[in-house]
Amino acid sequence: MPLDTAASAELFERARAVTPGGVNSPVRAFNAVGGTPRFIRSAAGAWLTDHDGNEYVDLICSWGPMLLGHAHPEVLAAVQAAVARGTSYGTPTEPEVELAEEIVARTSVERVRFVSSGTEATMSAIRLARGFTGRDVVVKFAGCYHGHVDALLASAGSGLATFAVPGTPGVPASSTELTLVLPYNDRAAVEKVFAEHGDRIACLITEAAPGNMGVVPPEPGFNAFLAETCARHGALFVSDEVMTGFRASRQGQWGLDGAVEGWRPDLVTFGKVMGGGFPAAAFGGRADVMGHLAPEGPVYQAGTLSGNPIATTAGLATLRLATDEVYDHVGRAAEVVKTAAAEALAAAGVPHTVQSTGTMFSVFLTEGPVRDFEDASRTSAAGYAAFFHAMLERHVYLPPSAYETWFLSSAHDDRAVSTVLDALPHAARAAAAAMDGA
Ligand SMILES: Cc1ncc(COP(=O)(O)O)c(C=O)c1O
Repeated sequence: MPLDTAASAELFERARAVTPGGVNSPVRAFNAVGGTPRFIRSAAGAWLTDHDGNEYVDLICSWGPMLLGHAHPEVLAAVQAAVARGTSYGTPTEPEVELAEEIVARTSVERVRFVSSGTEATMSAIRLARGFTGRDVVVKFAGCYHGHVDALLASAGSGLATFAVPGTPGVPASSTELTLVLPYNDRAAVEKVFAEHGDRIACLITEAAPGNMGVVPPEPGFNAFLAETCARHGALFVSDEVMTGFRASRQGQWGLDGAVEGWRPDLVTFGKVMGGGFPAAAFGGRADVMGHLAPEGPVYQAGTLSGNPIATTAGLATLRLATDEVYDHVGRAAEVVKTAAAEALAAAGVPHTVQSTGTMFSVFLTEGPVRDFEDASRTSAAGYAAFFHAMLERHVYLPPSAYETWFLSSAHDDRAVSTVLDALPHAARAAAAAMDGA
C-alpha cells in the first residue's frame, strides 16, 4: 500500500498558490524526483513525521545542521531559556562571545564574524578578500555551491545541477565575468589560471570538500596545494566549510587535512551545524584580514539579526554537545549505511560509486571515481528518482536530488539504521529497473 500523502498534497496545493513552486528553497519541491513533497509537522531524534502521520528516518538532517538529531533535549532547554529572556536586542550579547570562542578554539580561524546564512558568509568573505587585496577576480570550481551569491552562481552544483541550469537569469554578466570557474581536483588548471591572472586574483574559494555535487573529496594534498598557490600569488584562500564545518569531523574538513598537514586557510565560512538548526552562519580567519572589517577597518558588513541570541545559544549548545563520541557514532552509522547501499546496488547490478569525507558521504549511480563535476554529472537521474521513491515508500527520507550529501546524526540508532538497511535492496532493484528502461 503506498503511503497516504493527502494532507501533504493539499498543503502543497495551497503553498503553490502563494509561493513560487510551493517551496522556499528549490530542491525541496521534488522536481528532480517527481511526486509530492512531504510537509513535515514535527521531528524528534532521527525521525520526521509528516502531516499524514507518516514517519521517516531522516537522511537529510535539515541539509546538514542537525548533527545531534532533531529536538535534542539539551539544545531545546537552552533555546527555551534564551527565548524567555527575549528574542533579539540588537546589542552585543554573551552567547555571541562564547560561540565565537568555541569556533576559534576548534578551528583554524583567529577571529570570526556572525551572519544569518551561509550565502551571507561567502558573500561577505569575498567582499573582505577583495577589500583586503585590492583585487577583483574570484576563482571557484565547477560543482561547488557557495550559496546564491551573484558572483558565485557560475556552475554551482546543488540545486542548479539538479535543475540542469548552468547559471541563472537575474545575475548580470558583470557579476560573473570576474569569476573564473575551474574543474575540481585539477592542479594544472589552477596553475594555469594563476600564471595568467595571478596579480588580479583576490581569492580562490572552494568547498573544503565538495558536498554539493555529491561528495567529491579533495585528492590528497589538493587543499594544501590551493593554499600554497594562493599565498605565492598574494591571493587569499577561502575555504567554505558551511557544510563540512563541525560535520565532516569535529574540526570540519580542516581537521582531516589542514590540521594534520600544518596549513591554514586565510578565510573560512561556516553555517549549518554551528547554528544548531537556527539561521546562524559565520566567516572568520586571519586576524589581520578580519581586522579590515568595519568598525575596525574600512570593509563594510552588517546585519540586524547577526549573532541573534537564540541562534547563537542553539549553536553553542550544539557545539558543546558535539564531542568526539558524537562524531564516532555518526561515522560508524554512516559506515554501516554506505556499505549496505554499495552492497545492495552491487547485488542489483547498478553501476555506482560511494564517496565520503569524514562522516559525510553520497551515492553516485555511475562508475567511479568521481573527481569533478563532469564525472558527477554522469550519475543517473532516472535511477536516483526510482531509488529515492522506493526508499521514501519504506519510510526513509533521502535528499530529493542525485547531487546531494546524505547526512546522519548521533540520534540515528539501531532502529533508524535498520529501517534504512531493510529498504536499500528494494530501492536498488527499483533503480536497476529504471535504468534498464532508460
Ligand atoms: C558549501 C556551502 N556553502 C554555502 C551554502 C549556503 O548556505 P545557506 O543555504 O545557509 O545560504 C551552502 C548551502 O547548502 C553550502 O553547502
